[in-house]
Amino acid sequence: MADQDDLHHSTGSGEPGDDNSASDRESSKGFSRRQFIKGTGLAVSASVFVPDGLLKAAMPEETPGVSGPGEVPVRLRINGREHQLRLEPRVTLLDALRNRLDMTGAKKVCDRATCGACTVIMDGHPVYSCTVLAIDAQGKSIETIEGLAPEGKLHPVSQAFVDNDAQQCGFCTPGFVMAVKAFLDKHPHPTYDEVRASLGGNLCRCGTYMGIRKAALEAAAKMAGKGGRL
Ligand code: FES
Ligand code: FES
Repeated sequence: MADQDDLHHSTGSGEPGDDNSASDRESSKGFSRRQFIKGTGLAVSASVFVPDGLLKAAMPEETPGVSGPGEVPVRLRINGREHQLRLEPRVTLLDALRNRLDMTGAKKVCDRATCGACTVIMDGHPVYSCTVLAIDAQGKSIETIEGLAPEGKLHPVSQAFVDNDAQQCGFCTPGFVMAVKAFLDKHPHPTYDEVRASLGGNLCRCGTYMGIRKAALEAAAKMAGKGGRL
C-alpha cells in the first residue's frame, strides 16, 4: 500500500492545478518537467517507426509452440465422431461441448474442478471437462453422456440411476453417470466402499448419494449378468 501511495503521489504532482509544482519551479530554470516528458514522448514515438524489416526480425509473427490468442483449428473425437472446430486456445472442453457442439449433458456448475458436474471420459479416465482445454483434448477419445444413449436406449448405468431414484434436481446426474461408467469399465465387480471412494470427486447438493451408490452396484451386477449387491 505504501508503495502505491508513493507512486500516486509521485505521478500526481505536476498535474494541472498543482500550485507551486516542481514543473513550475523547474521552468524558472528554463526547462520544465512537462517539457522533458513531452520530449521523452517524442523520442518514444520516434522509436515506433522502426524499419519494417527490423521490426519483423525483432518480433516474429509466430512464436514456435504457441497457439492463439485467436481461433485455431481444433479437431475433437467425441462419442466416436470427429468434429472440426475453430476455437480460441483458452476455450475449455466443457465450453466447446456446450456452446459449440450443442452437447449440454455435461453441466457447468463450479467451473473450477470442484463439483464433477462436468465429468466426461477421456481416454478411459473421468475428467472435469471444465479444466481441460479443448485444444489439449485433441487426439483423445472423449465420451459424453450423449454417447450413452445413441438410439434412445439407456445405458445400464443410466437405467440404474432411474430405477434407484438416484437423482432429485438431476443437475449432478450426467457427471455421476459418467464417473460411474468410467469406474465400472475398469472395475466391473466393485464393493460398496470402492464405489463410494470412486465417486469422491463428484458432489450432489440434493444428497442422493445412497441412491447413486446403489445404482452403481446394480449397474455393475447387470453388466456382469448377476444380481445386485449392497
Ligand atoms: S463444473 Fe467442472 S468440476 Fe464443477
Ligand atoms: S440430484 Fe440435485 S445436485 Fe444431485
